[in-house]
Amino acid sequence: MTERKSIGETIEELDDVAIERKTAAPLAALWQRRIARRSFLTGMGKAALLATTSPAILSLAACDDAPEATPTQLPDDIFGFEAVPSGIDGTHHVAADHTADILIRWGDPVLKDAPELDTHNQSATAQLGQFGYNNDFIGFIPLPYGSNASDRGLLCIHHEYTNDELMHPRYPENNLLAFYTREIVEISMAAHGGSIIEVARGDDGKWQVVRDSPYNRRITPLATEMHLSGPVAGHPRVQTSEDPEGRRVMGTFNNCAGGITPWGTWLMSEENFNFYFMGENADEREAENHKRLGVPGRISYPWGVYHKRFDLAQEPHEPNRYGWVVEVDPLDPASTPIKRTALGRFKREGCENALTKDNRLALYMGDDQAFEYLYKFVTAEKVREDRAANASLLDSGTLYVARFEEDGSGTWLPLVFGENGLDETNGFASQADVLIETRRAADLLGATPLDRPEDVTPHEATGRVYVALTNAKEREKTDAVNPRAGNIWGQVLELTPADGDHASETFTWDLIVTCGDPADPAVGAKWHEEIDADGWFTCPDNFTTDGKGRLWVTTDQGSSWKKASGSADGLYALATTGEKRGVARRIFRAPVGAEVCGPCFTPDGKTLFLAVQHPGADGTKDYEGFERASTFHDPATRWPDFAPDMPPRPSVLVITAKNGGPVGG
Ligand code: FEO
Ligand code: CA
Ligand code: CA
Ligand code: CA
Repeated sequence: MTERKSIGETIEELDDVAIERKTAAPLAALWQRRIARRSFLTGMGKAALLATTSPAILSLAACDDAPEATPTQLPDDIFGFEAVPSGIDGTHHVAADHTADILIRWGDPVLKDAPELDTHNQSATAQLGQFGYNNDFIGFIPLPYGSNASDRGLLCIHHEYTNDELMHPRYPENNLLAFYTREIVEISMAAHGGSIIEVARGDDGKWQVVRDSPYNRRITPLATEMHLSGPVAGHPRVQTSEDPEGRRVMGTFNNCAGGITPWGTWLMSEENFNFYFMGENADEREAENHKRLGVPGRISYPWGVYHKRFDLAQEPHEPNRYGWVVEVDPLDPASTPIKRTALGRFKREGCENALTKDNRLALYMGDDQAFEYLYKFVTAEKVREDRAANASLLDSGTLYVARFEEDGSGTWLPLVFGENGLDETNGFASQADVLIETRRAADLLGATPLDRPEDVTPHEATGRVYVALTNAKEREKTDAVNPRAGNIWGQVLELTPADGDHASETFTWDLIVTCGDPADPAVGAKWHEEIDADGWFTCPDNFTTDGKGRLWVTTDQGSSWKKASGSADGLYALATTGEKRGVARRIFRAPVGAEVCGPCFTPDGKTLFLAVQHPGADGTKDYEGFERASTFHDPATRWPDFAPDMPPRPSVLVITAKNGGPVGG
């Protein structure tokens, strides 16, 4: 039995480790455990929200659009599906009254001339045209653009990272550097980034990839040039020898969750970018900045051996060109993606959004590492109906970081140069410096360190905002919003913006559920009393919403699954309103070693796209009967193909209800 861990397991462990900071959060020490639970909020109802929004903008359906319903008129049975039981095995399970079909897998052609996957003869050239590895975020843009179509559209999908040990037949036990030739490195680079695929639902009700669609596109760190825009563009701290102007970057990587804007662009977040840099930092000015973000990572993909921009000794500014949000226009396959620096720089999980009362855009973002922060950006200008008029909308506005108080209130603190000590006295010479060093600026303002904030999603049916605090094993000192030491289970945090307006600088908050086994008092979980063995979960990661006031939650327990729940990761519906608030039910369970990502409804709610990431990879030494690390030749599962010599493949699934109605009833 080997102790070797998958790349994902190692990254997951390092996410749990907090980065040292020089500035302590002053308020955290003053907190005491909050005793009173606030009463249920009634919510303002979808109708009130819709009244503030132009119909044209609303018709720009995105991932979180949902079937019509008002949360005050909930059906008695809020869970219109059969629960999937707890457990773990080599395949996936969906509710008996639903169907789950494979849509696309790692290596399937995306571009029309791309070859099928040949695992023994991989090349970067082939991979540049094929579906990438480790699918994560999924966004849906109906076609034709501006319609509310639920039978044809574009899927925008992230490929977060690669499990090279499962991709390559000759991946060795030792001497990895000899294995990593330029070709192997570039296959990894080409399998990162994102894919845009056109999908359509046939007369038989089955979804297919439209193989010859002109929209199909790969976005990679190997071959997709991007521009920097906003306050950091052109700044000396983003200038490199390959880009002396500081305005052009080759690609994006470690894209985790994301978002779709109301004007139909795709927001790709850049999360654990630190793991890709190697070498000694050659610019003393950047030492603290790099350290605060864990650059260089303790493990890394050795891209820097062949691409000098990943070698800090040669290009110490290159890390400053990652950690941003990238805006991509999927409707223009020739468009240049743009990194929107006004939204700050950190290890960003996702970038979901909602309109403010005056039609500006608020974007919510978690910084996924133990004891990092929750952020919001509010644009200066309104969203326009003419989509071209929104081309620079994300370049100006206010970035905020959240502070949570003991009494259930909270404040969005503006990260603005010249205010609250964000000035020369603390080493910030401009807003560009504040944005490049967003974490340090947030430290100085006394933002609240959280238990690893992953996805953050506004619920369009209620106006409340949900934050996945996935876990923080390292936590010792507790407070009201992070109430458990050694937290391997996570919690779901709920924010209610003041006045029901996403532009508000204050909010109230509550923990809707504190995750883990409700039957084990030592866990300290809090659920609605009707929670059962097939409903509770741990380690919430990604969300989507529906018109019934449900929050759809995917989980990522990493290698801790055995201790955290004893069951594989899955997809759950969680009631957020009415008498069942705090009850959940599992609709999907992943194969061993996988996490579940990117839940995404079509506008009619009748199709749910779902990403199964790194099947066979994580925590397989605790998988009874296998009890070792997976390799290409000896994987814990060969899901979804179950073909000899084919390793497990990350894949996107399509879930539909057998009765043709909305997924989940
Ligand atoms: Fe990529 Fe935060 O999970
Ligand atoms: Ca995630
Ligand atoms: Ca993960
Ligand atoms: Ca995660």
